[in-house]
Amino acid sequence: MKKKPIILGIESSCDETAVALITENGDGTPKVLSNIISSQIDVHKEFGGVVPELAARSHIEKIDLITKKAIEESKIKIEDIDCVATTTGPGLIVCLSVGINFGKTIALSLKKPFVAVNHLEGHALSPKLNSKLKYPYLLLLISGGHTQFLSVKGLGKYKRLGTTIDDAVGEAFDKIAKLLGIEFPGGPQIEKYAEKGDKNKYKLPKPIIGKGGCNLSFAGLKTAVLKISKQIKTPKEKFDLAASFQRTIEEILYQKSKVAFKEFKKIHNKKNNTFVIAGGVAANKKIREVLTNLCMEENFDPIFPPNNLCGDNAAMIAMVGLEKFKLNKFDTFDHPPKPRWPLDKSAAFLKGAGVKF
Ligand SMILES: Nc1ncnc2c1ncn2[C@@H]1O[C@H](COP(=O)(O)OP(=O)(O)OP(=O)(O)O)[C@@H](O)[C@H]1O
Ligand SMILES: [Mg+2]
Repeated sequence: MKKKPIILGIESSCDETAVALITENGDGTPKVLSNIISSQIDVHKEFGGVVPELAARSHIEKIDLITKKAIEESKIKIEDIDCVATTTGPGLIVCLSVGINFGKTIALSLKKPFVAVNHLEGHALSPKLNSKLKYPYLLLLISGGHTQFLSVKGLGKYKRLGTTIDDAVGEAFDKIAKLLGIEFPGGPQIEKYAEKGDKNKYKLPKPIIGKGGCNLSFAGLKTAVLKISKQIKTPKEKFDLAASFQRTIEEILYQKSKVAFKEFKKIHNKKNNTFVIAGGVAANKKIREVLTNLCMEENFDPIFPPNNLCGDNAAMIAMVGLEKFKLNKFDTFDHPPKPRWPLDKSAAFLKGAGVKF
């Protein structure tokens, strides 16, 4: 029997050092052999956000230990690795460089091919690790740096249908948490605060909700929360503000996804459509629930990655590596880090105060 490929995935684009090994089951579905994630929360906590140089130093300190652990846990021998897949962008250049140099060195020393992976393509393909997923599909990428609707036609084939024109939704969660005095990284905490509050207490704006197609905006919402946060005095009011914010995000994503469904159907005239929701914010239980309900109303099939694969991880990077490996799509050893690397290169830059709908 032919040996199943074993892919080593490496992720270091921001504040998670992650290494994973994946292979295939007998039926060709992916199998995660190990998936180690080392988060740098303690390194950045006192600064309230990620400090690039500290993040890079922490990657350097940990990457070999994490790799050793991932190999041990997978029970394979290092020489069994068939391909090294590494995030080469987008992200912080000093952080990307650590993973890239490490990945290239392993690939060169083992005389195995190197695959440069777009971190966002990792998120886009992450549900493949636990679900059957066929192209084309509509993707809502909701992460710390991105909020986009994309039509995914195949590996490397993306058409952007809509994007945020200011903050990413994860960024909005993090900034609101900071306003409410919640420790970094506050995004996931907001969800817990929201569970204890009254979602109808504060009426918050939903910027560009009836215009701009499925483009999104969160800056006005953040400013409104900032104003209210200056007046709140009790813990109860904090919970209410978190709940009102969470509810507003749910409504924005619900309504904009509905518009995106229409646009996707204009491009792909299919009977059975799939809606993939990926990225860190896809771990939010209420958002999962609201978008699942929308899919039932609109006859789309909702697919989410499992919770532990919503945020940054290297299994999703290895997943892209596996797809590219099977197509013999390899990269050269002079492949540079790409701090900016949109999935749809032809899409217009749509950010800032100049954008009008
Ligand atoms: N349960 C949750 N509810 C809301 N937001 C969440 C939740 N869990 C994580 N997040 C948010 O997800 C983001 C992290 O996601 P992810 O790791 O995918 O982003 P990133 O890698 O920093 O950005 P990008 O992938 O765009 O480069 C953070 O902004 C975090 O607050
Ligand atoms: Mg990410």
